[in-house]
Amino acid sequence: MLKSNIDKATGFEKRFENINTLVYKNSIDASKAVAKEIADLIKIKQAQKQTCVLGLATGSSPKGLYAELVRLHKEEGLSFKNVVSFNLDEYYPMAPDSINSYVRFMEEQLFKHVDILPENCHIPDGTLAKEIISDYCNEYEVKIKALGGIDLQILGIGGNGHIGFNESGALQNSKTRLVALDHITRVAASGDFSGLDKTPRTAITLGVKKIMEAKRIILMAWGEGKSNIIKVSVEGPIARQVPASYVQEHNNATFVLDQAAGSKLTRINRPWLVEEIVWTDNLIRKAVLGLAIHLNKPILMLTDADYIENGMSDLLADSGPAYDINIKIFNNLQNTITGWPGGKPNADDIKRPERAAPAKKRVLIFSPHPDDDIISMGGTFKRLQEQGHEVHVGYQTSGNIAVSDDEALRFTSFVCDYNDKFGIKGDEAQKIYKKVITFLKNKKASEIDIQDVRYIKGLIRKGEAKSTCCFIGIPESQIHFMELPFYETGAIKKNPVETKDVKITSDLIEKIKPHQIYAAGDLQDPHGTHKVCLDVIFEAVKQLKTKKFMNDCWVWLYRGAWQEWGIDEIEMAVPMGPDQVLEKRKGIFKHQSQKDGVVFQGTDSREFWQRAEDRNKETADLYDQLGMSRYAAMEAFVRWKY
Ligand code: F6R
Repeated sequence: MLKSNIDKATGFEKRFENINTLVYKNSIDASKAVAKEIADLIKIKQAQKQTCVLGLATGSSPKGLYAELVRLHKEEGLSFKNVVSFNLDEYYPMAPDSINSYVRFMEEQLFKHVDILPENCHIPDGTLAKEIISDYCNEYEVKIKALGGIDLQILGIGGNGHIGFNESGALQNSKTRLVALDHITRVAASGDFSGLDKTPRTAITLGVKKIMEAKRIILMAWGEGKSNIIKVSVEGPIARQVPASYVQEHNNATFVLDQAAGSKLTRINRPWLVEEIVWTDNLIRKAVLGLAIHLNKPILMLTDADYIENGMSDLLADSGPAYDINIKIFNNLQNTITGWPGGKPNADDIKRPERAAPAKKRVLIFSPHPDDDIISMGGTFKRLQEQGHEVHVGYQTSGNIAVSDDEALRFTSFVCDYNDKFGIKGDEAQKIYKKVITFLKNKKASEIDIQDVRYIKGLIRKGEAKSTCCFIGIPESQIHFMELPFYETGAIKKNPVETKDVKITSDLIEKIKPHQIYAAGDLQDPHGTHKVCLDVIFEAVKQLKTKKFMNDCWVWLYRGAWQEWGIDEIEMAVPMGPDQVLEKRKGIFKHQSQKDGVVFQGTDSREFWQRAEDRNKETADLYDQLGMSRYAAMEAFVRWKY
């Protein structure tokens, strides 16, 4: 069973944690461990000739678990004949055969691949008349009780801390019922439903009470996006706003995390508060910067008492007094600031983030979508161009699914009307435009665009990217539209990465032989495209590593619209004055199709230019607060040493 008070990976006592929490290297290992516990339980019950009652969840988190259970069935003969399952929830209203129904999800992920008996699978019914839902929910609970309750309940966690669809504010004794979905939950789901307006507003969910009555609970969470809510749920007080925190009161519950989801836990984020540690340079930097921010003091104003009162007295004893440590960290942070992202020619570069030579560098900026270059590093992009470097941009994907139908219709009608008006012949073309217009005008919800529409949407984004490059001042010959095939499904779900994606990327790198590569290390975009694009670059770089030109190639990672690097991680900070911020804004405005309520807004209602400006200002504010010079904004980078 997955139980321990000492974390296997770190060996630390989990002093701050109110729930048994295990942090695995990655979600694959973690899912396998959970699958093993379930398999063991099923087998024990089999030996006792008993039914094994499982509470199951949907969403992205349990997918790896179900895949492993299917493997155990197929390869190791695990039988599900004695399993009775109850799913946590279902959208309402929802037809079982709809692509977004949880009935379909469970069939595809688990049920149809194993020998569970169909009559033993229970999922709340999304087709009922509203008047009878309440009775139906009571019966759902009665059925669970009749079987002796849930033996093992699997949970995921929502960004707002929901379990099942028990949203923020759900009561500890809430029953199985029809609930209204939280805005955050609907936004998270809206990608699957092609927009917020088509996303259900209600769902049927197992209540918190029944979840808590389960004999065993395992909550799984993966990825940095879950790290904040995990910290709150595990270390915070039990609070109605965070239903996952109720699990603290369960006597046999475990949170199973990957490293990213566990990264904000005190034992990982501030281990010196949990146990005696070896103070590495990175940890000292993290601790001192964190202390200054926490106390709202410039670095050089930190005192011995500040160190002692905040669990850092051993550091002080080793390397103190505070003044000495402060100076070291201050200089270190100061050295990350540079107005010369491509290196300052003929300057001493020992303490600078970039090399001085060669003075004119070849730079390759990879932009996952056509606007990430300008949103995330527009100021640096312009600076590199102005300082005489040969700047290329590789637009990794077409970004076509983020263009609205209205926008595509507008452009197509424009060309069509123009040709009509001036009698420009081109019967083939006219036929295509008319087909596109008819398709768009009659398009049904969730219908995937036909190829011509996708192409037009891609063209719109290409035009915008070219316009930004022209604004920055780089010639067309330095713009590269890569159109990585993994992206081109016309839907949110993308194809798996293949060698051709990596080949397109490594060919471009090899052609340009850059001294600098910039890549989006932004791992939180809603559909994961940035992460896939980064993985493709990592793979391409690894394959090219032994080539001579790669000895001179440094890779810088930027972040942008969705998140920022931690202050202690930043290795290069490129400052901007107020006028440069306005210039960057103009560059972002070239992406007209992404303005004013974009198709995939995410949970943040600000437009991209606002997010970029806020984020860059926040970084500048932090540097200012820590005692550095005051700038209007800053773009931050971390170097990937491959
Ligand atoms: C799904 C469910 C939800 C999800 C949660 C996390 O049955 O009840 O609580 O577990 O929204 O979703 P993912 O795993 O997609 O992040």
